[in-house]
Amino acid sequence: MKPKTIIMAVLSANGIVALSHDDPVDWTSTEDRKLFKEVTLDAGIIIMGRKTYEMIGKPLHGRLNVVITRYPENHTDSKDLRFTSKQPRKLLELLHESGFSKVVIAGGPSVFSQFLNQQLVDEIYLTVMPVFFHSGLSLAPSLEQTVPLSLEEVKEISSNALLLHYLVRSDHD
Ligand SMILES: NC(=O)c1ccc[n+]([C@@H]2O[C@H](COP(=O)([O-])OP(=O)(O)OC[C@H]3O[C@@H](n4cnc5c(N)ncnc54)[C@H](OP(=O)(O)O)[C@@H]3O)[C@@H](O)[C@H]2O)c1
Repeated sequence: MKPKTIIMAVLSANGIVALSHDDPVDWTSTEDRKLFKEVTLDAGIIIMGRKTYEMIGKPLHGRLNVVITRYPENHTDSKDLRFTSKQPRKLLELLHESGFSKVVIAGGPSVFSQFLNQQLVDEIYLTVMPVFFHSGLSLAPSLEQTVPLSLEEVKEISSNALLLHYLVRSDHD
């Protein structure tokens, strides 16, 4: 068993989620940050790659922050912060056993790719920002298969940004 697994990402209108591996993503909006906070506080947990954690710079308050790294021994856990080298499926199973019914995958692209490739994702929230970037990282650069989606909701979260809420279809191949 695993918890409901939700990807949350913000991207440019031409599909870029980061200008580089150390982009602080300061081109997102207040409304997107607010939505991220709401959904992640509701889940009580976010899972992210080590580079994304370093970009955020500190654990996000009120949620368990689970950081995936090959070298958890090089980091120090604290109340709301766990470093783990557990692989996605095993990690979700353990979190389910610990009582989490919902988790948010907060990126980055390498982590998004792995959870999608292992068919572990149930929902995706994408905030589309009104900008094209000339280069950068796509949401799931190492995707190995097609992921069929159904559109659950479209919302204008500000005069300039659109939220797309998708469900991953079960005919996932
Ligand atoms: N626009 C958005 O919504 C969004 C969301 C999140 C992040 N970002 C941006 O994306 C960029 C970072 O993304 P990224 O793909 O370069 O890096 P990332 O996914 O944040 O982190 C990659 C690191 O995670 C660890 N890792 C990943 N998979 C692992 C596995 N299976 N087992 C063990 N460790 C694993 C490794 O850490 P070690 O090297 O420590 O082993 C790896 O170097 C940043 O610019 C960030 O700001 C954008």
